[in-house]
Amino acid sequence: MCGIVGYTGVKPAAPILLEGLRRLEYRGYDSAGVCVGNDGALSVVKRAGKIKDLRAIVPKDLAGFWGIGHTRWATHGGVTDLNAHPHADCSGKITIAHNGIIENFAGLKEKLLSEDHLFLSETDSEVIAHLIESVYDGDLERAVKEALALLKGTYGIVVMHADEPGKVVGARNGSPLVLGIGEGEMFLASDVTAMMAYTKQVVYIEDGEVVTVQPSGFRTSDLHDNSITKKVEHIGWEIEEIEKQGFATYMEKEIFEQPEAILRAMRGRLDLEQATGHLGGLNLSSRELLNVERVKIVAAGTSFHAGIVGAYLLESIARIPATAELASEVRYRNPIVERGALHFVVSQSGETADTLYAMRELKRKGATVLGVCNVVGSTIARESDGGVYIHSGPEIAVASTKAFTSQMTVFHIFTLLMARMRNMSYEQGAQIAKELEAIPGYVSQILAEKEQIRALATKYSWAKDVLFLGRGINYPVALEGALKLKEISYIHAEGYSAAEIKHGPIARINERTPSVFLVPDDRLRDKVISNMKEVKARAGKVIAVCSQGDDEVASIADDTIQVPRVHEIVSPFVMVVPLQLFAYYCALELGRDVDQPRNLAKSVTVE
Ligand code: F6R
Repeated sequence: MCGIVGYTGVKPAAPILLEGLRRLEYRGYDSAGVCVGNDGALSVVKRAGKIKDLRAIVPKDLAGFWGIGHTRWATHGGVTDLNAHPHADCSGKITIAHNGIIENFAGLKEKLLSEDHLFLSETDSEVIAHLIESVYDGDLERAVKEALALLKGTYGIVVMHADEPGKVVGARNGSPLVLGIGEGEMFLASDVTAMMAYTKQVVYIEDGEVVTVQPSGFRTSDLHDNSITKKVEHIGWEIEEIEKQGFATYMEKEIFEQPEAILRAMRGRLDLEQATGHLGGLNLSSRELLNVERVKIVAAGTSFHAGIVGAYLLESIARIPATAELASEVRYRNPIVERGALHFVVSQSGETADTLYAMRELKRKGATVLGVCNVVGSTIARESDGGVYIHSGPEIAVASTKAFTSQMTVFHIFTLLMARMRNMSYEQGAQIAKELEAIPGYVSQILAEKEQIRALATKYSWAKDVLFLGRGINYPVALEGALKLKEISYIHAEGYSAAEIKHGPIARINERTPSVFLVPDDRLRDKVISNMKEVKARAGKVIAVCSQGDDEVASIADDTIQVPRVHEIVSPFVMVVPLQLFAYYCALELGRDVDQPRNLAKSVTVE
């Protein structure tokens, strides 16, 4: 969601800014722009549409060695060229690019209008340029600080001034900002993917900090001008990991990377000898873990679905009361932090505003909050009391796939660890550890059957409405299957507990509404079969994801996707992968932009 870049150095800025913006495309956006400074003049080029549209109108000879750029995801004002960033002040000497939302922009704008400032856009962001102009007296950094002190809301900004060549000022409050350190050049961006081609040395800017970069160096300080010393960190990802590597789309690549990603999430953590798990990053002693009386998991979207699986595992296997809740609800519910409760926040990006704010609210109330994140150095990872990286590698496609299976892997290992400290014997633990070890192999077997799933997607992509139905540990997988299908194919889909259909959704069943049933060979299989029969009795088409050789299910369903027969607690892995592929191939069949579906953003940094 919105991306900012900044550059100062010795190379032409425009190609570096455009390439940085291209790398940020995955975050989701609808317009883009750049501003390049040269000889005391700034040139702004911006437009609604994609980076390739912007590239087409950026003059090939646009000279200048410093600049800023932006991808906009519209919040205030429509998707128009004028609303695209960067925005300029009245003189055209100051330009800014902004992520976030300025909550008090209306009052500020009114005041600035009364002082004869001329506004060209409908955005909240433009007030920042005019505010800086109103206090500027030859020192851009100081003017930015003065202006920021008047703002309420969230921001990640980059600012430049025509009269201060080679200087870019960045600041952060609630929207991520990273500084990249090169040889005689500096980069600023919303995330490291924009700068990985040039440098791996980075500094994460925190809320309330301002960074001023020039080719020769940088300075970090707070709004009161106190200098802050920052730690330089090394990006662990390789540039190849953010390429498609021969796959048609990032989503396809990420689906097919899952066996390796799951293995990485397990590496060094699954102890087959002791039949337990090790999660060093939790920062909790065995005694503290033993004292945990309940677990509360907080997340959004797909991460929330992984959290429901986690809660199910912890209750049923480790016998620890556990719940999963939507972050957006937790924050405003005035949550109760109970003694003995351990909180997890789950977030692939580590930047999701709802999850971050919920975490801060819980911490404010004294909770111990652990993060389950993918992006190293992300805000949630840094602000949590400890946690576990899922080590999936960069997830670029908007629809989350490998992060989901890796998040589940972490919860499986945590459950094994907690269960072995409590009721679980060595023998039971060893059986579960063996099953967990086998997951990457099971997933590979399913991926090898992709053509069969593609054929089914072709057969059913006419549908306008699809129900996904599962029970027990596969109820959240049904939710996830529906989310995947609707977000990338735009086919309306709902996930329910299979038992729930008779409480409402069955009214939608007819020959035009297919249902996807998740029917692993578990305790609830016969119940789900009854639910399937209820749908068939109403002329509904049924696609069943079931265990290999389950002839009874095959005789009832119109179509089946047969997956390895596994232990119940491993079944979410073998159930979800076919659903990811089904959604992917349906979207391809319908000609959708799979990696960047309409209206969606990868990193949802506004509430
Ligand atoms: C769906 C999807 C979203 C995210 C949600 C939370 O495919 O990707 O639902 O899961 O926006 O994002 P993170 O995990 O980054 O907090």
